[in-house]
Amino acid sequence: MRFPCSRMVLTLVLCAAPLAAQQPLQLASPDGRNRVTVQVRDGGLFYAVQRDGRVLLLPSRLGFEFRGAPPLRDSLAITGATAAAFDSTFTQPWGEVARVRDQHHELRVAVAEQGGLRRRFEVVFRAFDDGIGFRYELPAQPNLGDFEIQEELTEFSFGDNPTAWWIASDRPRLDRSEQLYSAGPLSTLDSVQTPLTMRTTTGGYVVLHEADLVDYPRTFLAGRGMESRVLRAALAPWADGVKVRGRTPFQSPWRTIQVADRAAGLAPALLGLKLNPPSRIANPSWIRPMKYVGIWWGMHLNLNTWKAGPQHGATTENAKRYIDFAARNGFGGVLVEGWNLGWGGYLSDQLEQFDFIRSYPDYDLPAVAAYAKSKGVELIAHNETQGQIANYEQQLEAAYRYYQSLGIHSIKSGYVADTVGGGHSHYGQFAVRHHRKVIETAARYDIMLDVHEPIHDTGERRTWPNMMTREGARGQEYNAWGAEGGNPPEHETMLFFTRLLGGPMDFTPGIFDLLIQSANGRPRAPEEARVRTTLAKQLALYVVLYSPLQMAADLPQNYEGHPAFRFIRDVAVDWDTTAVLDGRIGDYVVVARKTRDRDDWFLGAITDEEGRTLTASLDFLPAGRRYVAEIYADAPGAHWLSAPLEYAISERPVDATTWLELKLAPGGGQAIRIRPAN
Ligand code: NOJ
Ligand code: CA
Repeated sequence: MRFPCSRMVLTLVLCAAPLAAQQPLQLASPDGRNRVTVQVRDGGLFYAVQRDGRVLLLPSRLGFEFRGAPPLRDSLAITGATAAAFDSTFTQPWGEVARVRDQHHELRVAVAEQGGLRRRFEVVFRAFDDGIGFRYELPAQPNLGDFEIQEELTEFSFGDNPTAWWIASDRPRLDRSEQLYSAGPLSTLDSVQTPLTMRTTTGGYVVLHEADLVDYPRTFLAGRGMESRVLRAALAPWADGVKVRGRTPFQSPWRTIQVADRAAGLAPALLGLKLNPPSRIANPSWIRPMKYVGIWWGMHLNLNTWKAGPQHGATTENAKRYIDFAARNGFGGVLVEGWNLGWGGYLSDQLEQFDFIRSYPDYDLPAVAAYAKSKGVELIAHNETQGQIANYEQQLEAAYRYYQSLGIHSIKSGYVADTVGGGHSHYGQFAVRHHRKVIETAARYDIMLDVHEPIHDTGERRTWPNMMTREGARGQEYNAWGAEGGNPPEHETMLFFTRLLGGPMDFTPGIFDLLIQSANGRPRAPEEARVRTTLAKQLALYVVLYSPLQMAADLPQNYEGHPAFRFIRDVAVDWDTTAVLDGRIGDYVVVARKTRDRDDWFLGAITDEEGRTLTASLDFLPAGRRYVAEIYADAPGAHWLSAPLEYAISERPVDATTWLELKLAPGGGQAIRIRPAN
């Protein structure tokens, strides 16, 4: 429950003040470190942000341009403001942390045009200790009813030239966020995706993103070139170029500016959750984080096909084999891809229409679902759409009702397409509306979602906790077929500080056959696509890259009898506490997480192509209790390129006073289970 705090509610009425004489309005975070200033200058509305008394954002413009109406930008005046304080705590049904404290100060600024159409709007700012959020609200009014937004004019005008870790937003065929990250000064950015993580020259960290994206396009950030330090909101379009279609009353998503003193302080990122409405699912007992295996990697290795034929992966027999494996090893789910009609044209221009109910003749879905149930495992249905939104929406209700009748509680969906629904941006308002519809429909049928090629995560899981996880970055699949040889060793150390600040990622860790002998019958050569990590790093990814649905991605035969598989069986997927112990973007990260249901901790450490020895204090453990650390480490001589399979398992007693030395090989990692000593 959120409640207005009686400590501070104040109303300012400024309507009588002449434009030039208006005083700037101020808002500070509860700890006083983050400050927002709002003011009108020459008829334009600007906000600025300071941290610790230093400029983070210079006065930055707010407003809109419309199609068929004058811009909401000029001859503005602040006509009123209210301030309030809030402090509440909510419990998440699942997450990186169990409890989230939402403590913030709010400033609601009323603005009106002083001439012309005399339109009115409000901007709501919230200042938290971990950042700032603000959103536009357009009330119903005679001169602003139906509207088409052509541009949102929101700017982020930086006081210095921070280093940004970025992926581009506007590259054809790379538009699905599946890119490698680059680092460079903000002044060189063209158009980039959020979350956009930056380090200022004074060493602080800033992340620009958005929250509560409901009926609006996804926002990218565009630089101005010419050494400018200004980024502007750039909205993904409808097919005809319009960005937003709406009718007042209307509100935009929150623009978020997360701040932290250290890179390790950026995660877990909770600002976006605090800016989403509370859960709409009254009884979330059917929503259960779980680990899963699936008929998947074989297709990416070209051992199997999605479509029917001699190599078809989704056969009844094969699915039962996976179900048996899952049941024996304690996995909750089995994903089966390529079970339904329509895969003939996948990845080609000759698309077939996917059928989300009828299966290929060699796959008996009701029988497989019943078999899974008898073994205490759940099937995860797969719905690849290739962006055929109308086709999917037509079948949505019937398909979900059918899955529910079979005891299926989760769906992995896919949107492999550059544009969706006949030419709209993959990320535009059309697609955002579709994804919301899917989330809400799924909730009605008790279905959890894992979305690939998604719209980025803006904290929807607070309101709809069936929205579990997504892809939305280069995942493990690139190590099967990526033209440049797969993901480089630094990749996951980038993901942690960028993509994962938006929300969970279905990266699909856990490949043990790192040289992909399963596909070729021989180890792949260094220049071919293969997994550019050590084996211990694959284990550490279960702790580092958070996902409430977490896959063990390799073929079952590569796990059978493998001593390191024990870690994947043991590791948790739902956390009470998360502590990022250390990290540097693109270099390394060390994360400790406590499970929700037991007194078990897990620690994951990963590095880029450099070997390193890190130390970790276990002072997060309760004092005076004795534990055992089960350590899965890179063996001496391990190396992502020359000796990735070398690992060592050991045990040692530990307690809160222990310092562990973590020796990470080049491209390596370490995974540790810390369990109470008996
Ligand atoms: C891309 C997804 O990321 C991958 O996991 C899936 O196997 C294929 N699309 C087919 O849907
Ligand atoms: Ca993908």
